Amino acid sequence: MKDLLKLAQENIKNAYVPYSKFRVSAVLELKNGEIYKGVNVENAAYGLANCAERSALFAAYSNGVRKEDIKRIMVYTDKDYFVSPCGACRQVMRELMEEEADVIFANSNGEFKEVKNKDLLPFGFTEKDL
Ligand code: THU
Repeated sequence: MKDLLKLAQENIKNAYVPYSKFRVSAVLELKNGEIYKGVNVENAAYGLANCAERSALFAAYSNGVRKEDIKRIMVYTDKDYFVSPCGACRQVMRELMEEEADVIFANSNGEFKEVKNKDLLPFGFTEKDL
């Protein structure tokens, strides 16, 4: 957990946040130990911002990773409180990670909160609804 935190802290500098100035860093750990990192990437057309969680997941999927490969994701901000993933990221995590995968929130005090992916989006829309 401390290793993931260190990576998330190092990587938060890469957040591209000229508009919100709100930096988020996400670190995805695979079951084989591989790591994929993501940050939030904003745009002058505000609605096109991509959150850190989705950046990390899309980077991993772009390199062939699939949900069964993923162990957990850490979401880190440099705030002293916990920041929880937005609704869009919960939907994407629900699709791209297993129900039992861990989602860890981490803050600048080095505190952690851990939840199961499935608990972040109760009654979520999934492939079973199609
Ligand atoms: N943001 C994330 O990266 N992850 C979240 O789960 C919540 C919000 C980003 C999007 C935007 O760049 C900034 O935080 C402020 O909303």
